[in-house]
Amino acid sequence: MTPLVIRRLLPADAARFQALRLRGLREAPTAFGSSYEEECERPVSELAERIEKNTNGFILGAFDGDSLVGTVGMQREAALKRRHKMILWGMYVLPEARRGGVGRTLVDEALRQAFALPGLRQVVLGVNAANAPAVALYAGAGFTSFGLERGCMIVDGVLEDEIHMVCVRPGA
Ligand SMILES: CC(C)(COP(=O)(O)OP(=O)(O)OC[C@H]1O[C@@H](n2cnc3c(N)ncnc32)[C@H](O)[C@@H]1OP(=O)(O)O)[C@@H](O)C(=O)NCCC(=O)NCCS
Repeated sequence: MTPLVIRRLLPADAARFQALRLRGLREAPTAFGSSYEEECERPVSELAERIEKNTNGFILGAFDGDSLVGTVGMQREAALKRRHKMILWGMYVLPEARRGGVGRTLVDEALRQAFALPGLRQVVLGVNAANAPAVALYAGAGFTSFGLERGCMIVDGVLEDEIHMVCVRPGA
């Protein structure tokens, strides 16, 4: 692997982002709130527009050369009383790029950028309770769990539990 480059996705990255996301939704359907069936028909232009117009969030991409091998999304809450919070979503690393620190690098950079925003105090996320690799990744990056939602999703007829986690800005 060439040195990893982490940067925010631009509208021009929309097609690559969609391809990666669809692969993730197919490979790991219980890891995400969205589903392949809902996302596969979405025009690339719509994604590009969303990336361009999203002033309250960003998506980080991990690039190995020209290849997008991982992503993580961050979305700040828009409501006045909730603007101190950001939601981490869409964490995904291609199977062939795993266990090399890509996921951890993405989470660390997402937290660094989030906590650099004025007034941002905490980052929250939901993770499937059976997803031990992801739970370990987040715990290692400084998240702690504060709740378990039983039956949060139904995937292929099976109820899935979700752990809620939070990472508070150091010193807050
Ligand atoms: C979870 C995921 C993002 C991890 O990405 P990755 O690039 O392999 O992670 P890293 O190599 O940076 O590993 C960071 C830490 O995560 C944990 N981890 C990652 N893979 C793991 C595994 N297979 N088993 C146990 N822990 C694991 C470890 O704590 C690891 O730290 P360590 O290397 O010091 O042991 C990746 O497996 C993935 O995309 N999974 C499918 C989608 C998914 O589950 N997304 C999360 C949605 S909430």
